[in-house]
Parts: sequence; structure tokens; C-alpha cells
Amino acid sequence: MLQKNLKLNLLYHELKSPLVVVETGVTSLLNRSCLYGSLSEKQEKVLSRIQRNVRTAQLLVNDMLELGCAQKGIIRETPIKVSSIIPEVLWQVLDLTNHCLSSKIKDVLDLTQLQSILPEGGITLSISPEVWEKEFYLDERKLKQIIRNLMSNSLKHMKNSIEVTIKEQNSCFMCSVEDDGKGISPKYHKKIFEAYFQMDELEEHNLRGHGLGLAGVLILVEEIGGKLLLESDVGKGAKFIVLLPMPEKLNEG
Ligand SMILES: Nc1ncnc2c1ncn2[C@@H]1O[C@H](COP(=O)(O)OP(=O)(O)OP(=O)(O)O)[C@@H](O)[C@H]1O
Ligand SMILES: [Mg+2]
Repeated sequence: MLQKNLKLNLLYHELKSPLVVVETGVTSLLNRSCLYGSLSEKQEKVLSRIQRNVRTAQLLVNDMLELGCAQKGIIRETPIKVSSIIPEVLWQVLDLTNHCLSSKIKDVLDLTQLQSILPEGGITLSISPEVWEKEFYLDERKLKQIIRNLMSNSLKHMKNSIEVTIKEQNSCFMCSVEDDGKGISPKYHKKIFEAYFQMDELEEHNLRGHGLGLAGVLILVEEIGGKLLLESDVGKGAKFIVLLPMPEKLNEG
């Protein structure tokens, strides 16, 4: 089994190089018209679509590699600021669903500006300026992967709104993602964290997924020593809450 996982991870690893070549090639064509000649509007549209999709493929490959690390108990905790990860996560998840908003996020300068443009996509970001700028000692890649997966689910299932909250709670780093979608019956609260399980396999948005996102999130949260909670019921939206322990060092300061 371990050997099989290693083979798969080596395969994902090998996929990284060709994807980098495609991504940098397309980005050069888009950004360096002085070198490659100018593009027509149609060419630019097609290349932008290729760029977005190859970046999504890169994220998926990195996510699979990170899951492999987590299953081996490899955690890389470094001091990170929420201000340096949240804008990136937001533009990555919105890149395929709301490209206009995602490109605006790339130019954002501060929390207030970000909070003022997100409602355009029905998103509220609840976070204090102190938490935004504070350094937390966490595994950056795993945290990004967790929030990306929860957000992409909420974006698929939301009716009108999503609320992302980040704060400190009982010496834990707390992040929740809540949407106002159709919700999840308590009878599925365990099942949805199983690999390949989808509540309504035939629904259009589920056909695009594989039922793997939440299984991965649970592995990552548990490997970090955290907790993943779900508050939801039919017709009442869904709220996923992630609680991650903060290592002693920073609690002291
Ligand atoms: N916010 C949500 N609201 C309602 N149902 C949800 C929500 N998040 C997840 N689910 C249900 O849980 C199932 C499992 O979610 P999971 O993220 O594991 O898979 P997926 O989103 O279908 O596919 P993938 O994440 O692999 O692209 C979903 O198919 C959906 O039925
Ligand atoms: Mg998902």
C-alpha cells in the first residue's frame, strides 16, 4: 500500500515540471507582447483560459503531494500572517468561478479594500485588523489547502452568501466558512468526510467534483492536531469550522 502511494506521489511529482513549462509559456505569451507580438482579443481569451486551468492543475498536483506529506506526519510550521495567505487563497478559488472578482483581488492593498470588494461575489470576510497582521505559527501549505477546499465547496453550494471568519479562540487558530446553501442533513455529517462520497451524485455541481476534497481536509486537520466541525441541517446552509492548535511559543508572546 505504502509502495503504491509512493508511486502515485512520484507521478504527481513528475507532473510538476511539464505543468511549469506550460504555465510559464502561456504567461509569457500573455505578458510579453513586446517579445512575442501582440495578441488578438480572441487569442488572449483562449490563452487566459489555458492559464487559469493549468494553474488549477498545478494546485491539484501540489495538494496531492501535500496530502502525501501529511499522511507521513510531515508538518512544516513557520510564522505566517493571515494577510499573506487569504488574498492568494481567495483569488485562486475564484479564478475559475468569478474571474472578474479574482483579478480585482490580485490588486488589493489592504484588509479594508478586500472586505469592500468581496461582497460583489456574495462573500463577507470577518476578521479583525489585529488578527490580519498577527503572526501565527502554522503549516502554510496545509492551511491554504484546507481553506481552498472549504471555500470551493461553499462557492458551489451557496445561494447568495458566504461568510469566512478567522479569529483566535481558546488559544486556537479558528477559521470557519459558512454558506446559505441547501445544507447537509445530520445523517450525512460523517459520510461527507469519506473519500468519494457525494450526497447527490447526479447534481450538476457534483459531477465536476470527486468527493475527495473534504476527505483531504479531514486528513490535513487531524495531522496538524486540529479539529474539524460541521454545523448544518437541511435548508439551513452549512458551516465548517477548523480549529488548529497554536504551538506554545507564540501563545507565550
Ligand atoms: N458547503 C456545502 N453545502 C452542501 N453540501 C456540501 C458542502 N460541502 C460539501 N458538501 C457535500 O459533501 C460532498 C463531499 O464534498 P467534497 O468536497 O469531499 O467533494 P466534492 O466537492 O463533491 O468534490 P471535490 O472536492 O473532490 O472536487 C459534496 O459532494 C456535497 O454533496
Ligand atoms: Mg469539494
